[in-house]
Amino acid sequence: MWGMIGTWRMALEGIIEGAKILEKKGNAGDAIEIAIRQVEDFPYNKSVGYGSLPNEEMEVEMDAAYMDGDTLDIGAVAAIKDFANPVAIARRLSREKVNSMLVAEGAEKFAHKEGFERKNMLTDRAKLHYQKRVKELVGQTQTPLQEMKPYSGHDTVGMLCLDIKGKMTAATSTSGLFMKKKGRVGDSPLSGSGFYADSQKGAASATGLGEDLMRGCISYEVVRLMGQGLHPQQACEMAVNCLDKELKKRRGEAGDISLVAMNPQGEWGAATNIEGFPFVVVTEEQKPTVYLLTRKEDGHCTYEEASEKWMKDYMQRRMAPINGV
Ligand code: GLY
Repeated sequence: MWGMIGTWRMALEGIIEGAKILEKKGNAGDAIEIAIRQVEDFPYNKSVGYGSLPNEEMEVEMDAAYMDGDTLDIGAVAAIKDFANPVAIARRLSREKVNSMLVAEGAEKFAHKEGFERKNMLTDRAKLHYQKRVKELVGQTQTPLQEMKPYSGHDTVGMLCLDIKGKMTAATSTSGLFMKKKGRVGDSPLSGSGFYADSQKGAASATGLGEDLMRGCISYEVVRLMGQGLHPQQACEMAVNCLDKELKKRRGEAGDISLVAMNPQGEWGAATNIEGFPFVVVTEEQKPTVYLLTRKEDGHCTYEEASEKWMKDYMQRRMAPINGV
């Protein structure tokens, strides 16, 4: 059995490409890298790669990670600027015995020496989003930059992959929160928080408010639960519900938490504490499909396939002109 699962609708085109590799008996490392690169290259994704939204200093700082579930090799970059495909740099770093997580200038120097493609990741469209947000805040605050709130909505692309030989991988990529502080790092490059993969137990990836996801080491928790025999769906629901409850009890509120998981049999699951979390699945037996997930009162999640209308509206919203600047 082979398969892939990814967070948000934006994963679809990448997962279609990844599946082409997997169905030809390709490996889970190549499939996941191709898939995430596809998302990084599409300029209309507001929170991943080229065209994603900048920090409060109008710089696109990106986080990405890669994990090999056979060897437990991990590579990650954080707060890296001006490189086209952070996930490829993370994968390259995963082959290093030490120094496998690099940040900012250190990550950029490594990427440059290794010949990765440099690119100005700040697009005119992203600048318009930034200027619009600054304008919206003028007059409401003492200084607009102090009061800027993170963009909520689309977030990290996190993917998991199982190949025909049973190897599992996980990878993530994001520009993090819109208007974040320079140097802020979220959960996405952190092993156990934004992702985890163990070919013997399964793999998981998280998306949402990084600061809260880190409090639960939630991706590792899902893999741990699968290792105890839970189905990926049960493991995701249990992990989301426990963290959501704990955060509300101790801190009075919980940020957005959404999860996807897959086990070595290609069974998959997803859970969320928000309304209508989209995710994408493909397996040997199932064509690439976008699902919308909803959490019920009792904490269980239900999902349905996204309608044609939903898919069309999504793309129109993504590519709509930015007014009000
Ligand atoms: N989940 C992405 C971030 O908080 O940066």
